[in-house]
Amino acid sequence: MDEVVSLCKRRGFVFQSSEIYNGFSGFFDYGPLGAELKRNIKDRWWREFVQGRSDVVGLDASIISSPKVWEASGHVEQFTDPMVDCRETKLRFRADQLFYSPVKMEGGGDVLCHVCVQEDSEDNMAAAAKAQAKKILKKAGTPLGQNAKLDPFQFKDLTQAEEEELAVIPSPASLLPTLTAPRDFNLMFETSVGAAADASAAAYLRPETAQAIFVNFKNAQSTGRMKVPFGVAQVGKAFRNEVTPRNFIFRSREFEQMEIEYFIPPGDDVWQPFHEEWLASAKKFLLGIGLREDLMGLDVHAPGGLAHYARACTDITFRFPFGVSELMGVAARGSYDLEQHAKASGKSMEYFDDETKTKYVPHVIEPSLGVDRLFLALICSAYAEDEVGGEKRNYLRFHPSVAPVKASVLPLLKNKPELVEVAAKLHEELKKRWNVEYDAAGAVGRRYRRADEIGTPFCITVDFDTLEDKCVTIRDRDTTEQRRVPLDEVAAVLQKEIDG
Ligand code: GAP
Repeated sequence: MDEVVSLCKRRGFVFQSSEIYNGFSGFFDYGPLGAELKRNIKDRWWREFVQGRSDVVGLDASIISSPKVWEASGHVEQFTDPMVDCRETKLRFRADQLFYSPVKMEGGGDVLCHVCVQEDSEDNMAAAAKAQAKKILKKAGTPLGQNAKLDPFQFKDLTQAEEEELAVIPSPASLLPTLTAPRDFNLMFETSVGAAADASAAAYLRPETAQAIFVNFKNAQSTGRMKVPFGVAQVGKAFRNEVTPRNFIFRSREFEQMEIEYFIPPGDDVWQPFHEEWLASAKKFLLGIGLREDLMGLDVHAPGGLAHYARACTDITFRFPFGVSELMGVAARGSYDLEQHAKASGKSMEYFDDETKTKYVPHVIEPSLGVDRLFLALICSAYAEDEVGGEKRNYLRFHPSVAPVKASVLPLLKNKPELVEVAAKLHEELKKRWNVEYDAAGAVGRRYRRADEIGTPFCITVDFDTLEDKCVTIRDRDTTEQRRVPLDEVAAVLQKEIDG
């Protein structure tokens, strides 16, 4: 994971937010290449699921809405994590992610604060527990004082027996005097709207894009002249005051979601085929933009582990460097949300079915995908190493459709005006359609290498033959094979690869 984080910073994909002020936990900024990659992901998704289908329309709703939306949806009451505070270190943890791992003081002193946070993958639990313990001990350094050296046991590799000793703490307060009792912590960020300073001004930043779709169900259905089954899609920011933001952009406090609410007729046996279809469509999309299939999996939620609104949910998982974790969910939400909003607003959420001449509140299938999580999964999928001409090469195998830079135009020599002129003209032409670079600095081999490192799929070289045959060389990043293509066909060749 460290390698991925460092690559993202080095190449200008992702920076820590407010980096010059030592960062701001749970927030990130996307750099020049990251901004392009993110846009491409969202554009591809929108193209596939909104513009490419006649049964889905788009929506772009406000981030802040009436707080009544979140009361009706159950978020005010139930969108919480159990949380404990450590009195010694003043750190805050999710109670359901705590593991017991004793930290003794030299000379048999008191147990101090022995908290470890579970990682998402069981494979990495012990390693994560150790890493977290180290972090805590480092932070606790000052308050511990001079004579408080910590038991080196903590820093050794854990044996199987020690790993088994790490047990979930059922009631941290009873075991660990340094921890407060668990309490519910609402993950919604609160803000206030307008000049009034009282409770009537309180509002929330949306924790999911989904609710605005439910609230606009009638608007979208009637203005889009949609018939059930149909979907409404939205891409946008969501905010959650995560207790433990973790694993880089995997779990942050500000992120983006791409969500669809697909409205279907009610009935116990109706939703399953739609659910399966949406799972298949989601998987096809992910593979189509270059996610590695061997790193993907499915996690069918047990009925006891479902969110308060869900009837069923299957996650598409991904093997991130820190372990296997949820990439996206496809949930069957029943009619819970529409019913809730109908009840709270007093407005009907019923749909009249022309064919069956019946009225009903539709049920819903919800494919929900995090842009930032997919961004991370794509970087992990693309990360590759091989040997070219006897030299080690690190490169990113992005699918051309999401690659931040689609092509790099290279005049063979920068001091030959006749080559530069043709290359600059080609660059200008291609730039009208895509993000294309112009690189004239250094030997061609080095320029290839620079393009490979940021995942540019094609390098287009203008050489002396170009002046005669009006053709250029297009070099493929992955195979390093080169082909001669007429100048006036370059755009069409790129378009085909990008659409592929
Ligand atoms: N509307 C349903 C919903 O929001 P969710 O499982 O809470 O369900 C959906 O979130 C997706 O949003 C997740 O699968 C993940 O891709 C992304 N996501 C959720 N919380 C996130 C966070 N804190 N940071 C980054 N992405 C997150």
